[in-house]
Amino acid sequence: MNLQGKTALVTGASRGIGAAVARQLARAGCAHVIIQYNSYAEGAQAVMADIERAGARALAVQADFSSMAGVHALLAAVSEAGLAVDVLINNAGSLLKRAKLAEMDEETYDAVMTLNAKSVWFLTRALAPAMIRKGEGADVNVSSIAARNGGGPGATVYAASKAAVSAMTKGLAKELAPQGIRVNAISPGTVDNYFHEVFSTREVLDGVVKMTPAGRLGTNEEMADLILFLCSPQAAYIHGQTIEINGGMLAP
Ligand SMILES: NC(=O)c1ccc[n+]([C@@H]2O[C@H](COP(=O)([O-])OP(=O)(O)OC[C@H]3O[C@@H](n4cnc5c(N)ncnc54)[C@H](OP(=O)(O)O)[C@@H]3O)[C@@H](O)[C@H]2O)c1
Repeated sequence: MNLQGKTALVTGASRGIGAAVARQLARAGCAHVIIQYNSYAEGAQAVMADIERAGARALAVQADFSSMAGVHALLAAVSEAGLAVDVLINNAGSLLKRAKLAEMDEETYDAVMTLNAKSVWFLTRALAPAMIRKGEGADVNVSSIAARNGGGPGATVYAASKAAVSAMTKGLAKELAPQGIRVNAISPGTVDNYFHEVFSTREVLDGVVKMTPAGRLGTNEEMADLILFLCSPQAAYIHGQTIEINGGMLAP
């Protein structure tokens, strides 16, 4: 996996899938790995240290994407660092809270949509011109199985935001492919990480394992492996795909 000399930006890289991706990008030869985090500064520090141990330069930026101010803050920091991003991993995301129809107020709806979908659009929009000038670039978005099955209890708006990500992935791929930019996504099933420590119970996760043909949950590293493949030269002819990675849990 040769990403020698590239500059990568990974959102949501203080833990979970994003942290695993950031570490792997550094090991794959990236010269700069920029990571964004929101609340978990210690996690971001640890990831930065691993990036530097792998021989890349690291920059960590705190930004809350539940409003557009966070997206603009991240873009300002990238611009201030004078870095042109070659590889963009739009990974930051959350349910924020489980809320069924009656409990989902307008403020939370907007925050979920901004964090999971609107941020993807505006980060891609801001960073694409530099990729277009170079004639190459790779974007990988992180969707979810929820985009296809409507999500679990209280996760409908999250699911809708991820469906937007899958649709943007296709549309942007068609628009940007002629300019040398590949846009793809991964769609994880259930990954055994902090996300579900917060939003699911162990009983629920045991139930998911029972329904999963592979007989277990996914890992952060498995998600990162697929993301790395999608941004590598080995995936040069893959455009606009949302790759399901879920242990055989086929969503309708
Ligand atoms: N875990 C799963 O089973 C699963 C399944 C399908 C899709 N996904 C998607 O995978 C992506 C990565 O999630 P994960 O599983 O690695 O979960 P995670 O371990 O909870 O990590 C989520 C990351 O997103 C960041 N984040 C959360 N809220 C944010 C906000 N308001 N503004 C900016 N950043 C924020 C977090 O930053 P801080 O920790 O610093 O606050 C963290 O770095 C997400 O898009 C998620 O929707 C996860």
